[in-house]
Amino acid sequence: VAPLLRFDGKVVVVTGAGRGLGRSYAMLLAARGASVVVNDLGGSSGGGGADESVAEDVASTIRENGGSAISSAADIASEEGASAVVAAAVEAFGGVHAVINNAGILAGLQFPEISTDDMRRHLDVHLMGTFLVTRSAWPHLVASGSGRVLTTISSAIYGSAPVLPYSTAKGGIFGFTRSLAQAGAAVGIKVNGIAPRAATRLTGNPDIRRAAGVAAVPDGAAPRRDPDDAAPVAAYLVHDRCPVTGQFFAADAGRVARIFLAETPGHVLTDPSMESVHEHWDRICDTTGFAIPATAAEQRRFADTILTHHQPV
Ligand SMILES: NC(=O)c1ccc[n+]([C@@H]2O[C@H](COP(=O)([O-])OP(=O)(O)OC[C@H]3O[C@@H](n4cnc5c(N)ncnc54)[C@H](O)[C@@H]3O)[C@@H](O)[C@H]2O)c1
Repeated sequence: VAPLLRFDGKVVVVTGAGRGLGRSYAMLLAARGASVVVNDLGGSSGGGGADESVAEDVASTIRENGGSAISSAADIASEEGASAVVAAAVEAFGGVHAVINNAGILAGLQFPEISTDDMRRHLDVHLMGTFLVTRSAWPHLVASGSGRVLTTISSAIYGSAPVLPYSTAKGGIFGFTRSLAQAGAAVGIKVNGIAPRAATRLTGNPDIRRAAGVAAVPDGAAPRRDPDDAAPVAAYLVHDRCPVTGQFFAADAGRVARIFLAETPGHVLTDPSMESVHEHWDRICDTTGFAIPATAAEQRRFADTILTHHQPV
């Protein structure tokens, strides 16, 4: 039997860990020996309000189960809040080995009626929150020698009009994760993203179901999508044994899959004009021989190779 993958001696910060997926991540990490900082503002699904008991309930449950945890009710969308979460980790446990950026909000909003405030609120919590907490934790992650960062994206990056501000923020996190993985490579830090799916208050929101044109789910009829089924994927991605960096994985009711960004070889126009773009449209879009560049530099090499080898006709 393979030995259990454990987190003894590791300190992991999980944002938004008072409910839903983050709670499951925190419980699993603690059960595997990690000291966990359970951060949660305790607000509403759409981002309003605050309740300190939400984070503390999870931290005390972990302690009752014999684990090690503290709570932090800081708002990770603010610079002070993000620093406070990391400071709490360092004060209680002496460092930070991994950060799971999981906190999130979701409101169903239709374009173009989306207000500037609605848009900013989504970017602040998801994108800025991820940036601020990770930046604060970075020196500690570097010092740990094998730091890990997990970000949270969503299938909404494929496009989801009813949650456009949410989808936009998640797209920003995609680019952040890719570039941060490069920044972390020299200092032993691995950075990956998860696109989880689970029955939580976020997915049960009747306003969003209505905006998306999805019928309300009658009680008891929803497919069982337990957040606990996504937790092993999140925990694996912040474990020392995690084999990858800069990559994204879907975790949905036990299904785990890689998500990637790809580019077609394209077509080299010998005489660039709108008409030749039109004429070669099928070749431009043909996915045969596509590449999955790991970095922007790798994308440029792919493009340059095609340009170099192309025979003018
Ligand atoms: N549930 C899904 O199917 C699904 C799908 C794709 C992505 N996600 C992502 O997974 C993550 C967790 O979502 P969930 O479904 O568990 O939702 P949830 O609402 O159950 O949990 C999110 C938690 O984040 C906390 N939070 C929100 N803003 C915060 C802030 N500024 N500071 C600190 N804490 C804050 C909330 O209080 C809440 O407890 C989110 O990033 C979400 O976008 C979820």
